[in-house]
Amino acid sequence: MQAVIEGQLSGEERRLLSEAILHSNPKPETVIEVGTWLGGGSTLHILQALQQNGCGHLWGIEADHGIYERMLANIQKAVPEAAARFTPLFGLSDQVIPKWIAEKGTGLRVDFAFLDGGDNPNEQILEFQQLDPHIPIGGQLMAHDARVRKGKYFVPYLALLDHWRSQVHNSSEVGLLTATKIAESPSDESLAAASAALRRLRRQPSELLAPLLPSKLKGFILKMLPRRWFQALMGGHRS
Ligand SMILES: C[S@@+](CC[C@H](N)C(=O)[O-])C[C@H]1O[C@@H](n2cnc3c(N)ncnc32)[C@H](O)[C@@H]1O
Repeated sequence: MQAVIEGQLSGEERRLLSEAILHSNPKPETVIEVGTWLGGGSTLHILQALQQNGCGHLWGIEADHGIYERMLANIQKAVPEAAARFTPLFGLSDQVIPKWIAEKGTGLRVDFAFLDGGDNPNEQILEFQQLDPHIPIGGQLMAHDARVRKGKYFVPYLALLDHWRSQVHNSSEVGLLTATKIAESPSDESLAAASAALRRLRRQPSELLAPLLPSKLKGFILKMLPRRWFQALMGGHRS
């Protein structure tokens, strides 16, 4: 019997992730994820789907050393048959991704990316901008926590880029974004609109407050505000 290891994602999100890899045509060869946590969520389900496909390799990035060590042991225990398809990468995504891209050299094609790292909404933007040039038309991307702070910039930014088609699923309270690349690069107009939206989001009062206040105090202050002010400050998003 397979060992049960801890992981996040709802049952519906695990199904969407597995099916995206199983039904992809051509089958993904190069898969990267940010934020493995303990391995029983995205990492396990990606590896099982690759194993079922009979091809593909996953590079999984994790920034917390204790979690990283436990994840390695968990994957070895839960899916030893698929462990050869897995290369763990320790560190922060903004440093690991450029190094990984440089090591792979020219001709790198990232067929599938899963973004589920830290809560700072700038991270998914940067991870996407680093990976996008290496994702071919037809390549897929998923990002978790689309309806909370992690996805606060990325969801509207990607929706405005016309070289990707994206949607957010109500697959859990926090939401999962799924997207497919449909053209090599964005039109100038769509890139300008997405960049302007990103600048507006970063200038929201709640974002300017974020680095200045401890999050507990910020949450308390925001909860005390009238509903109308709260929505104006938060831009309709939950912190
Ligand atoms: C929400 S958990 C990931 C859950 C996992 N995908 C699953 O399905 O079970 C986020 C993980 O990302 C890691 N993390 C946070 N910021 C990161 C970063 N900048 N780069 C890489 N990993 C990061 C955290 O240590 C944590 O383990």
